[in-house]
Amino acid sequence: MAHRKKKLLIIYHSQGGTMERLARRFALGANHEEDVETLLKPAAEATLNDLLQCHGIAIGSPEYFGTMAGLVKDFFDRTYEAAREQTIGLPFVLFVCAGNDGRGALTQIERIAAGYKWRQALEHQRIVGEPSKDDLNRIEELGHTMAAGVGMGIF
Ligand SMILES: Cc1cc2nc3c(=O)[nH]c(=O)nc-3n(C[C@H](O)[C@H](O)[C@H](O)COP(=O)(O)O)c2cc1C
Repeated sequence: MAHRKKKLLIIYHSQGGTMERLARRFALGANHEEDVETLLKPAAEATLNDLLQCHGIAIGSPEYFGTMAGLVKDFFDRTYEAAREQTIGLPFVLFVCAGNDGRGALTQIERIAAGYKWRQALEHQRIVGEPSKDDLNRIEELGHTMAAGVGMGIF
């Protein structure tokens, strides 16, 4: 029987490049799991189909004006009606970067995820200021753990 790989979707937005670095590190970690297909996409390019076909989702957003980036919100706006009944229980994890806070972005995305009835898979991460080496390693590890869990279907 053909073995179909599980899919992990990673969506992010980055205006200044910080979240792009973090999202790439997350994907690097996820790619350690060869049995899982990783799809890394800017939120603006992610489609309803990407969401419907994934077995887990990671969302990376900077905090802008106390909440998530507009294009991350746009992804939710575009997919909610069509996806919500089909993605109930989808494992998700969040990572947020911020100048000095980030809690607003985390809280707002959590509220939306609750609307979809997604299931938190791992502890969300908040990176404040310029990411340190430890922060980058932590995000890579998060990506690896998320992919491993999605691959094994344990979330
Ligand atoms: C328009 C704008 C609004 C921001 N608002 C906040 C904010 O409300 N709270 C905060 O902690 N940082 C805020 N920041 C800082 C960013 O969250 C931080 O620089 C982040 O690393 C940017 O990620 P990026 O380089 O991927 O765009 C803001 C930055 C911009 C450009």
